[in-house]
Amino acid sequence: MRRAIFPGSFDPLTNGHLDIIRRSLPLFDEIVIAVLQNPGKNPMFSVEERTAMIGEILPLVEDGRCRLVVDSFSGLTADFARRRGAQAIIRGIRAVADYEYELRMALMNRRLEPAIETVFLLAAEEFSYVSSTLMKEVFTLGGRVEGLVPELVEAKMRGKRGGQTPPAA
Ligand code: PNS
Repeated sequence: MRRAIFPGSFDPLTNGHLDIIRRSLPLFDEIVIAVLQNPGKNPMFSVEERTAMIGEILPLVEDGRCRLVVDSFSGLTADFARRRGAQAIIRGIRAVADYEYELRMALMNRRLEPAIETVFLLAAEEFSYVSSTLMKEVFTLGGRVEGLVPELVEAKMRGKRGGQTPPAA
């Protein structure tokens, strides 16, 4: 059983995340989407809201088997990966700017858990500028994020803003 975790804040899930999940599915039997419980940050969505949204968006069952699992964790990603019996940690790389931070994390995680490999996957070029932080900023300031986040996420973001849709471009 080849199992990987895909850790992140997912506040909120973007189409860039979905792209990475789709690319990782042929490589692993099971992928655990691991939502970090990070009370320090000031999130748009609670961990419960994020995990529920991911569960609603993704077809978690394929051919009667659950290949995508959604879970949340606190503490070290490396510890969570070991506890879940994962062989790999998946991270998406959008542009060269991501690489330095990701490299440091991957090397630290390898030091903590030498048997667990970090697997970097390249996001589609069309999502190379898409981040949860940017989506929240643009949306909060009244910009449109359609096509960059799943429709359900956009609807929930709208709910947070009182249901208003920005005018068409
Ligand atoms: O989606 P993000 O915010 O880029 O994800 C970052 C995440 C959750 C992968 C990273 O912050 C993390 O692993 N946090 C858990 C604490 C931890 O293990 N820190 C040491 C990393 S080497």
